[in-house]
Amino acid sequence: MTVSSAPGKVYLFGEHAVVYGEPAVPCAIERRATVTVDARSDDHIRVQARDLSLDGFTVEYAGDTAERPDVDVPEGLVDAAMGYIDAAVEQARDAADAPDAGFDITVESEIPLGAGLGSSAAVVVAGIDAATRELGVELSKEEIADRAYRAEYDVQDGQASRADTFCSAMGGAVRVEGDDCRCIETPNLPFVVGFDGGAGDTGELVAGVRDLRAEYGFAADTVESIGDIVRAGEERLYDADPDSEPTADLLAELGRLMDFDHGLLEALGVSSRTLDNMVWAAREAGAHGAKLTGAGGGGCIVALDETPETRTALRYTAECRDAFRAELDREGVRVESAGDGTAAADRGDA
Ligand code: PMV
Repeated sequence: MTVSSAPGKVYLFGEHAVVYGEPAVPCAIERRATVTVDARSDDHIRVQARDLSLDGFTVEYAGDTAERPDVDVPEGLVDAAMGYIDAAVEQARDAADAPDAGFDITVESEIPLGAGLGSSAAVVVAGIDAATRELGVELSKEEIADRAYRAEYDVQDGQASRADTFCSAMGGAVRVEGDDCRCIETPNLPFVVGFDGGAGDTGELVAGVRDLRAEYGFAADTVESIGDIVRAGEERLYDADPDSEPTADLLAELGRLMDFDHGLLEALGVSSRTLDNMVWAAREAGAHGAKLTGAGGGGCIVALDETPETRTALRYTAECRDAFRAELDREGVRVESAGDGTAAADRGDA
């Protein structure tokens, strides 16, 4: 049995614009998805999912998700969860050259689904790490990031950037521009997350921005301006000392840029009343800045505040279901408990 975990993320800046080749800076946070993988003697996949912000479900199937499991949860969420796990299994089988490997898989996650915190990327990253290790193969973090991206790309019909998967695999703050992904050394940033209990439809929101951008030159300019915000923000991060607490100047400027970014995302139609209300609650509580994170439409906002004020204010905000401090996670994917290698040896794969 092998257990691996990987973090979720917030976007400091750049969601949506990253789809059109602009840079983005996501940051991994200390909220993890944990995947337990046990090799089977047949080629079946049995998946048990708990704490995914939906009622736990268990399904067993031999082929792919075309053979619909019989479970009592909304179809869309089952399809989504099963699709990602399927894709992760395919990547692990390919990496370990074990096309018939079967697994019992348990997924546990502290990251709300579809809420802009990179839940699917964390599950895919942790799943690939655990399943390959279970088959006796150890991939580098970069390889896991690349395979996780390909898995998401397949599930999301090509509408995926490398941002979530690279960030979850590597940890810390990262910069993604097209296929160019790198890590940024940053001081610890005092993130506070507010969650409205909902989820946006990433595909629909991305399509909405695509249409606006195609129709109006000023919408295309707005997307480019988000790229300018990211470039300004990353310059400030490169100048900062990663081993010290962030300075007041750094937090003030990052906050101002986050506010600006949120305004442009709002103009592109991807915010919502609940997200806006949480953003304003954070700003009025004294946060340096606040913005939606991820695809938008509902889900989470991220604010910068080193004091307890923003979290308290969010907790008293009607639209906010949960508010928590989210420490920067510098580690990325990690193995929690390694198998003894007998699974691979039994199969004759290692
Ligand atoms: O909501 P999330 O965490 O899946 O983020 C989506 C971010 C987008 O930029 C809108 C899409 C993408 O693949 O980068």
